[in-house]
Amino acid sequence: MKNIQGNLYLKKNKDDFLSSFHRWIFSGAVEKLESQQSLKNGDIVKIFNSKKEFVGYAFYEKPQQIVARIFYFGNTEIQDINDYFYQQLEHLYTKKKKLFEDSNAFRLIHSESDGIPGVICDIYNDLSVIQFDYLKSETFLKILVDFLNHKNIQYILLKEQQNIQWLSPKTIDKIRFIENQIHFEIQLDKFQKTGYFLDQKINRKKLLEYSHNKIILDAFCYIGGFGLHALKGNAQKVVFVDAQNLTNQIQENLKINQFKFDNTEIVQSNVFDYLNNIKENYFDLMIVDPPAFVKTKTKIKEAIHGYVGLNRLAIKKIKHQGHIFTFSCSQFIDKELFRKIIFLAAKEEKRNVIIKEYLTQAPDHTISIFHPEGEYLKGLVLYVE
Ligand SMILES: C[S@@+](CC[C@H](N)C(=O)[O-])C[C@H]1O[C@@H](n2cnc3c(N)ncnc32)[C@H](O)[C@@H]1O
Repeated sequence: MKNIQGNLYLKKNKDDFLSSFHRWIFSGAVEKLESQQSLKNGDIVKIFNSKKEFVGYAFYEKPQQIVARIFYFGNTEIQDINDYFYQQLEHLYTKKKKLFEDSNAFRLIHSESDGIPGVICDIYNDLSVIQFDYLKSETFLKILVDFLNHKNIQYILLKEQQNIQWLSPKTIDKIRFIENQIHFEIQLDKFQKTGYFLDQKINRKKLLEYSHNKIILDAFCYIGGFGLHALKGNAQKVVFVDAQNLTNQIQENLKINQFKFDNTEIVQSNVFDYLNNIKENYFDLMIVDPPAFVKTKTKIKEAIHGYVGLNRLAIKKIKHQGHIFTFSCSQFIDKELFRKIIFLAAKEEKRNVIIKEYLTQAPDHTISIFHPEGEYLKGLVLYVE
């Protein structure tokens, strides 16, 4: 195969991880790395086990703790990398597109969990946003753009850290899409992550069942994904709260869905301050969907403290026999720890809390049994007596 920039040999007794198909090669496992010229982030390297047998291919990552991320396991070599990735992409596209009947937005590539390490790619109808988290493979990027063109994606945006760059001749100033039959748009200069939090799609749909005639708080609302679903589910009133000024965005989304404004309120505030200042026993239902409070394992204690504090406030203020949809998207807070956090919050507030449902990320955000790190979103529907 062309496009191979180096060979990576693994150390004896350090290649066991291959049998469990984990994709990360840590620096301590590398015996030797050979290449003609200095390797760039995202270059493709061949991987050999300690017996010098070929075992797969990986994207090289400028040495940090992880040196390479494997995208192919096998003892037969790939003949044509374009064909290989094209087939992978076609498979993902077919599988994911048919997951959601009422939506035209989905995650095409969920990084390692979909076998393409380091790459996130979301589709919003005729627009795609590509994001490289830690490494950027130029070889793969060319193939992906070509694939998206073949799928009639008109607008292709590349996001690297905070920079965005168009990879298509056509450009546009907003992202437009449909989720669960609700129309959304988001201005490019306001967008977070890859534009929208598609991982909550199923959980927003679930909210429809709980919304009828309820007074609802959409805390950490962003462009109002949950709140708009609540209105579709005939909520009596929805209050949207976010620290960012998203009033125009939310109003625009209310307008395009022909929802009335008079039973909505949009507040720009820190959610902690907002919850501290409202009266108790007013909201029937709260959605509490904060950003990740923890990005590294070392900060986990502070994060737990933050989550307990936030959930205490929600549990304290929710109406008797009310519901809370509470979430954590921190990868380092697992399901058990999240449950413990809610336990601590309920205990401090001395209210009886019942877990009604367990929630997770939408299925286009693949959870691979071999890559537990890709499972990050967890939520609970709580009933507070
Ligand atoms: C995970 S996103 C929420 C996504 C949203 N619930 C949805 O369904 O699309 C987190 C949001 O919290 C907002 N945010 C972060 N810290 C905040 C704070 N302390 N108070 C209020 N909003 C905050 C961010 O601006 C962002 O919109």
